[in-house]
Amino acid sequence: MVKTMRTVYLDHAATTPIAPEVRETVAHAMAECWGNPSSLHLFGRKARDLLDEARVTVAHALGCLDAEVFFTSSGTEANNMAIFGAARVAPPHKRHLITTAIEHHAVLHACQRLQQDGWEVTYLPVDSKGMVDPDDVRRALRAETWLVSVMHANNEIGTLQPVGEIAAICREQGVWLHCDAVQTFGLLDMDVQRLGVDMLSVSAHKLYGPMGVGALYIRGGVKIAPLLVGGAQERELRAGTENVPAIAGFAKAVELSRARYSTAWQKIWQLRERLRARLQELVPDIQVNGHPQQCHPGILSVTFARVSAESLLIALDRYGVAASAGAACSAGSIEPSHVLLALGMSETQAMSTIRLSLGRGNTPEEIDFAAEVIAEQVHRLRRKAVATVSASSI
Ligand SMILES: Cc1ncc(COP(=O)(O)O)c(C=O)c1O
Repeated sequence: MVKTMRTVYLDHAATTPIAPEVRETVAHAMAECWGNPSSLHLFGRKARDLLDEARVTVAHALGCLDAEVFFTSSGTEANNMAIFGAARVAPPHKRHLITTAIEHHAVLHACQRLQQDGWEVTYLPVDSKGMVDPDDVRRALRAETWLVSVMHANNEIGTLQPVGEIAAICREQGVWLHCDAVQTFGLLDMDVQRLGVDMLSVSAHKLYGPMGVGALYIRGGVKIAPLLVGGAQERELRAGTENVPAIAGFAKAVELSRARYSTAWQKIWQLRERLRARLQELVPDIQVNGHPQQCHPGILSVTFARVSAESLLIALDRYGVAASAGAACSAGSIEPSHVLLALGMSETQAMSTIRLSLGRGNTPEEIDFAAEVIAEQVHRLRRKAVATVSASSI
């Protein structure tokens, strides 16, 4: 039995703890720059300056112009803005969209809404490691295709998609490509020019920034329609007074992340590999999901046969280990994850899968502790299941 009680946070893909420097920046902005950035007086100008600086910081991190960055309330809104915004300007004969079966619901549900409005949507399959084949994109493109949306890293299994190759195909055909990069922005040099995308969504709370703020990169020349109408904020593409303190915090988080590009990926990957190896030692029959190399460094999706993910997560929480399921909680019932099913997993396997997601604050000691707790609880739940079956057969 693991004795020391401590807490280990392994749910960074859900959200990250706010960096202390970000907290200070947000508090400072709330105290000193609370004016409306659209006001012309001193108070407004102070807020406007902060907003402008933040836009430049985010633009530098994306390798684009500040005029190409549009702040939103979240990654979800950025995805919605890209998809609905592009759809609204589509000519009547161009109502086909291509996406993948494993996108975040912020993309998938937007696509489903468009289908209700008469759009045709192709959901590309993925292989057993969660990878999209760029040739499938090429084959799915038609004269009517208006937009392609492919995520950078999957939030449940971590697989990184060949976005650069897909971008080249889209460019050849003159079709816009949107990319949901919410899970990877802040971990690597996300240069939108090199990637070749037309639109890209990011979110602050996945990179140690505040919740409720994100951004959409829109390449100059790509004209989409606004989702929110009202004031002329964000170059008339996103009405509503900007959340200046949160945006300033976002920019601070971006700055801090950029300073760690060279080390964070490697450090987190080493911890992930340590956790994977430890778990494989302690529970030899685990299945690790996703691509073994082309993978987000911090996401480890593991299937424990004969164990309910829900029971395991509750047990882990009792021992201070915070993780999440590869399943989405909806309306009080746990549904098997669409991502895991798309890999070819059975519902039973999907319901036995948990996601451990690591961040830059985790330590090797925490990882060893978590591995022991997980293994112990998996063995306990398996013994309990066997005992229940034997008791019921008496
Ligand atoms: C891949 C991906 N896209 C979009 C989102 C939504 O971002 P937000 O929480 O900022 O709305 C998430 C959040 O988990 C995500 O993982």
